Amino acid sequence: MLIRASLFLNFCVLTYVALQAAQNSGNGGGSGSGGGGGAGGLNPIYSDNVNLPSGVQIVYNSNAETETAVREAPASTNVLLSSSPSQFSTVEIETEASSTTSGDQQLPVSSTLTETTDPPRPSDLGIDCQDRERHFSYSQRGSYWILNHYVPAEKAYHCNESITYTTHGDITFLDNIVPLTRRWDGPLSVAVYTPGSDYESAIRSMAYLRQCTGPDIRQRVSFHLVLDERHFPTVLRKLHSQQGPPTTRSPLQTSAVNGLSTATPETQDNKRTMNLTYPVNLLRNVARQNAPTHYILASDAELYPSLDMVRLFFDMLRRNESVLHLGRPKVFVLPIFEVYRNQTVPSSKTELVEKLKAGLAVPFHQKVCSYCHSVPKSKEWLVANVTDGLHVFHIAKRHKPYQRWEPIYIGTQDDPLYDERLTWEGKSDKMTQGYALCVLDYDFMILDNAFLVHRPGVKIPRREPLRDAMAKKQSAIIRSAIYRELKVLYGQNSNCVL
Ligand SMILES: *[C@@H]1O[C@H](CO)[C@@H](O)[C@H](O)[C@H]1NC(C)=O
Ligand SMILES: *[C@@H]1O[C@H](CO)[C@@H](O)[C@H](O)[C@H]1NC(C)=O
Ligand SMILES: *[C@@H]1O[C@H](CO)[C@@H](O)[C@H](O)[C@H]1NC(C)=O
Ligand SMILES: *[C@@H]1O[C@H](CO)[C@@H](O)[C@H](O)[C@H]1NC(C)=O
Ligand SMILES: *[C@@H]1O[C@H](CO)[C@@H](O)[C@H](O)[C@H]1NC(C)=O
Repeated sequence: MLIRASLFLNFCVLTYVALQAAQNSGNGGGSGSGGGGGAGGLNPIYSDNVNLPSGVQIVYNSNAETETAVREAPASTNVLLSSSPSQFSTVEIETEASSTTSGDQQLPVSSTLTETTDPPRPSDLGIDCQDRERHFSYSQRGSYWILNHYVPAEKAYHCNESITYTTHGDITFLDNIVPLTRRWDGPLSVAVYTPGSDYESAIRSMAYLRQCTGPDIRQRVSFHLVLDERHFPTVLRKLHSQQGPPTTRSPLQTSAVNGLSTATPETQDNKRTMNLTYPVNLLRNVARQNAPTHYILASDAELYPSLDMVRLFFDMLRRNESVLHLGRPKVFVLPIFEVYRNQTVPSSKTELVEKLKAGLAVPFHQKVCSYCHSVPKSKEWLVANVTDGLHVFHIAKRHKPYQRWEPIYIGTQDDPLYDERLTWEGKSDKMTQGYALCVLDYDFMILDNAFLVHRPGVKIPRREPLRDAMAKKQSAIIRSAIYRELKVLYGQNSNCVL
């Protein structure tokens, strides 16, 4: 037991040291992907995230060593990926602290449900849904292979009992998972883009997150990996939960000692050096479709929620206010803000409003693209008295002048998906979905006491000529081909533009 504990500590400490070294050796951030755009790839220290280096990007060198370490490990009887087909060839890698859960048993979801720590919620809200698969599986989309539930959360959820925060990123975005898990009181579904050697880094990072940051990530976060056919890993690794962490000789030790010198990103076959575009909408859809619940908050990993949102949202549904009975489809919009780098993320609206008044917070992307996120009635939202619980503050449409509004909202599995041809680099990636919601006459119910705050650091405009060129191309595709399709699929409405 003691030995295991010390090994466990060792893994975390060594990994942490390696991460810090990697970070200090410069250019920690990726070229920016996933939603927020990385605020310049710098690595701010922020209070939500004390113990974790930015961009948990665990780089290690020696394949041979790892495989030796793996062979020495006792055979696992407790395989998290137990539902993987037998032709799924893997090298096992120890990434888990000892665990008492029986991940091996893939019982029907209902029988593996563990007791929630949340207060009991007896009333049946009549949410019409089917409990969802949470088994490992492969699927294929275009030139990408998806490893669904590659690392599943230990806790199972009924489809009607929570809201899943769904998000995506490359390996440099994984450090957001810790603050997100602390702030979000429900399950999380995370799609990670892992071309080439990013796959190995992702495995290490997920191991670190699950093992070294408390139980929340293991219990509530499911990771899905997206592999790129052009940059495929040579072997798939299996995470399992029975054994302790990497044995006496951590594969990371070499890295830490050598200062990661042989693993400089330039020599690696990874996203950054391969100049790959980021299939943002494919990842969004993967995270969404693998969410265990009917209600989802499809977000970007750098957007941190105000506290207690799931509980407050269900309380609101339970109050069953008349506005919830409008017959049209609806989503529940969360206003978005930014705070300066030296600020903490506010937890309540009161705290947020104080920061806004003091000029320490601003509406999201005010300086970059104010119209993208200008929210109907935003001024009134700020002066409205803070109430107990959540309420619908205002019902908006995505009509002029908000026709380019890109709201982030709590929606459901029934909402239209995102167009997977669009890349993050090409911008406007959420516009086609917004158009579909508009034509389908969605109500955008703006919530009063819930909001999102971008990871600290206010984004300022930057010139990105390469991206601008790609954006121009993508806009042309959206306006011609995609618009034509959407008109056929969803119809037209003179209030809705693309
Ligand atoms: C979820 O569904 C189950 C079974 O249908 C029901 O007993 C439970 O009350 C529902 N929960 C909510 C919050 O609606
Ligand atoms: C909510 O209110 C409506 C109309 O008053 C009623 O028909 C419905 O049963 C209520 N739903 C719940 C879950 O209480
Ligand atoms: C990266 O991709 C862009 C767009 O395809 C291209 O214009 C650029 O030359 C590429 N850069 C490198 C270093 O390959
Ligand atoms: C935080 O940063 C803002 C903007 O850069 C500055 O105005 C403010 O004085 C700073 N506050 C503290 C406590 O350092
Ligand atoms: C907020 O509450 C105060 C005191 O209850 C009231 O005087 C004021 O009009 C309210 N403001 C708004 C915008 O409702």
